[in-house]
Amino acid sequence: MYKLLFDLVFKKMDPEKAHHLAFFWIRLAASVPGLRQLVKAVLAPRDPALRTTALGLDLPGPFGLGAGFDKDGIGIDGLSMLGFDFVEIGTVTGEPQAGNPAPRLFRLVEDRALINRMGFNNQGSARVAARLKARPHTSSTPVIGVNIGKTKVVEEVDATADYVKSTERLAEYADYLVVNVSSPNTPGLRNLQTVSTLGPLLVDVRQAADRSVAHHVPLLVKIAPDLADEDIDAIADMAVQIGLDGIIATNTTIGRDGLRESAARIEEIGMGGLSGAPLKARSLEVLQRLRERTAGQLVLVAVGGIETADDAWERITHGADLVQGYSAFVYEGPFWMRRVHKGLSARLRASGFTSITEAVGSAKG
Ligand SMILES: Cc1cc2nc3c(=O)[nH]c(=O)nc-3n(C[C@H](O)[C@H](O)[C@H](O)COP(=O)(O)O)c2cc1C
Repeated sequence: MYKLLFDLVFKKMDPEKAHHLAFFWIRLAASVPGLRQLVKAVLAPRDPALRTTALGLDLPGPFGLGAGFDKDGIGIDGLSMLGFDFVEIGTVTGEPQAGNPAPRLFRLVEDRALINRMGFNNQGSARVAARLKARPHTSSTPVIGVNIGKTKVVEEVDATADYVKSTERLAEYADYLVVNVSSPNTPGLRNLQTVSTLGPLLVDVRQAADRSVAHHVPLLVKIAPDLADEDIDAIADMAVQIGLDGIIATNTTIGRDGLRESAARIEEIGMGGLSGAPLKARSLEVLQRLRERTAGQLVLVAVGGIETADDAWERITHGADLVQGYSAFVYEGPFWMRRVHKGLSARLRASGFTSITEAVGSAKG
């Protein structure tokens, strides 16, 4: 049914407009008393066997929504209603910003991929913090990750102050915090992945979180798939050394290899980060490298090209404590999370493991 809706409606619309329309419907459904519970009961059935713990958090399952879908934290309950086990909001920057001029989101339908150069369009850390503060806290409140990034107009040398500002405002409302240094759409951002810069940045953000909140808010860094293998190792070593809680691998790629879409169309689209199916192999590779290097000392969150329960299971067995998706949600629609959960339940049962945590890293090599 969603395939029909996608082909007849969404595919014909500008991708960003389609995103806003779909997200509006999701929020609307979640705001109608009774309807939210009904939709949740259908789309997000909970297999107790999938319950898991990571980052000191209890989660109904290992499968969350990656950052970028809900940049301002406006639809967390709607996204949880659809079956995501946790929702990462953001990227939120220190100051509000409009992002890049449109068009800035493109579909590569044949490749089950997206290219985006949104450029961190968001309402800024003060407004998002106020929104999170106003949220009623109930037993059904989902786990919320808050992903932070650098405001575009802030110079690279002043990046730390911008991240610290966001941390001071947002840490209190975050179940975990993510320092995003891997979006290709903010000039210079990915330079912050150099260990000599990244280490002190993460230490300062850690201290800011500890100053702001009495309890430990887990801190992770999100990295690009385009890093050289030695750089991945260096970040992994540094993360362990400074006591970071985890790494999210990966963000979108600036690569354009192996696409079915014509070279002319890719050229016409221009700059941006590629996500979805073409990212699968490299994201898995980065995860495997991180796992080998960190040997269980960090929480690993896998994202990039996850489309099926088998993909999610593959990441889990190769060391991912948690998994996330974004692009496949666009192509698969609101029943996607249900399908992935059903498949994961089946894989878990067939494996003989009794929990996701037992399955984490169980694959050989
Ligand atoms: C339109 C769009 C916007 C995104 N915005 C962000 C963002 O603001 N911050 C971030 O860390 N990742 C962002 N991402 C990256 C995703 O969170 C994810 O890492 C990436 O898309 C790979 O996962 P996927 O193949 O399942 O889409 C964005 C992705 C897309 C498609």
